[in-house]
Amino acid sequence: MPKISLLWLAAEASCFAAFRSGEIWLDTDGNPIDAHGGGFLLDGGVYYWYGSARNGMSPPCCLDRGVNLYTSTDLYSWTHRGLVLHAFNSSTDNGLSLERPKVIRCTGTGQYVMWVRGSALASQLLAVATSDAPTGPFRFVGDQTDPFRTVARGGPNFRAGYQYGDATLFQDPRTGRAYVYWRTRWHQTGFRGMELTEDCTDVRPESDTQLFATPNREAPAVFFANERFYLWVSGCMGWAPTTTHLYTAPTALGCFNCSGLNNSKGWLVGWQPPPIPEPNQSGNQKQRNRPGVWAFGSQSTFILANPLYRKGSALAPFVYMADRWTPKNNVSFGTYVWLPLFIDPQNASRVRVLWRASWRLDNATSPFGARRAPNSSVSVT
Ligand code: GAL
Repeated sequence: MPKISLLWLAAEASCFAAFRSGEIWLDTDGNPIDAHGGGFLLDGGVYYWYGSARNGMSPPCCLDRGVNLYTSTDLYSWTHRGLVLHAFNSSTDNGLSLERPKVIRCTGTGQYVMWVRGSALASQLLAVATSDAPTGPFRFVGDQTDPFRTVARGGPNFRAGYQYGDATLFQDPRTGRAYVYWRTRWHQTGFRGMELTEDCTDVRPESDTQLFATPNREAPAVFFANERFYLWVSGCMGWAPTTTHLYTAPTALGCFNCSGLNNSKGWLVGWQPPPIPEPNQSGNQKQRNRPGVWAFGSQSTFILANPLYRKGSALAPFVYMADRWTPKNNVSFGTYVWLPLFIDPQNASRVRVLWRASWRLDNATSPFGARRAPNSSVSVT
């Protein structure tokens, strides 16, 4: 192989060998990765990244082509596999946009099941699509022009008055049972969760639980550690970065406000020192054009286990994954913010995400206790 190619390969490899939050990330074809509000699935040693395909869509800013898929075996280098679910036109405005897709492999059927939010001008609802392979194609459960059969407002599966905003799926690693967590928007019905049916395409209405009452929370990401469920949410600021809030509970549909920790606000862990001001109150106002002020200029979308982490290791057990939205940018609808997330081994309710301009799964070490690394104390305060 000529020398120049080797040099080029070395440069390319190093380019993909670290996470650089807020920069445009290229796929293996050299194009900006276009998968916003992503959901991640590890299946058979391969990572699947599903997200809204929106780069270059302007204006109006928020339409998309559907759900894009990228795959990787190391989380640094991503190959584009194309659109696995196409956006659709329907008689209602719900079909314009597909946001925050999340995919699980359903324990009951072995099928791949995607839940995705229809971001509409008025109402927001969740659609469900399934596929026999993680690479798709995914097909809507129900009618292509009205895929909201499962969870439609006024439908048989949930009480009137709910509206599905940002949502996520999570599978209990111990039982394989799957849950949907979502933001309701009408009648102050709070943040809620429900267990999915055995085929993961519907909900069990009897499991409907209000996880906490605060209405202005969205962008959920759920993870499981130390026999606890953690529910990470952002404030509601549209595309602008905002504060984050983290709840924890012993069961998947436990009361995320009621762990018994001594915190009258119900915030069990706060990125900013608690209590966290409510949105639009002093200290938590819109901070447009000032990325980094809140949550490192990001809004959460997923929290993924670090494959290199082993119990007792000082490495980050999880990767905080988020979007830094720039809906008016013609090249990229937004960049990605992936940062190391640590849990204090002495106190599972202490969680920190650290800013790292560039980091790897094998080199960010815990800021807690004796394991604190010399340069690892940067955080948002
Ligand atoms: C946020 C949501 C994003 C996007 C944005 C549009 O509430 O988390 O996914 O929908 O609003 O303003």
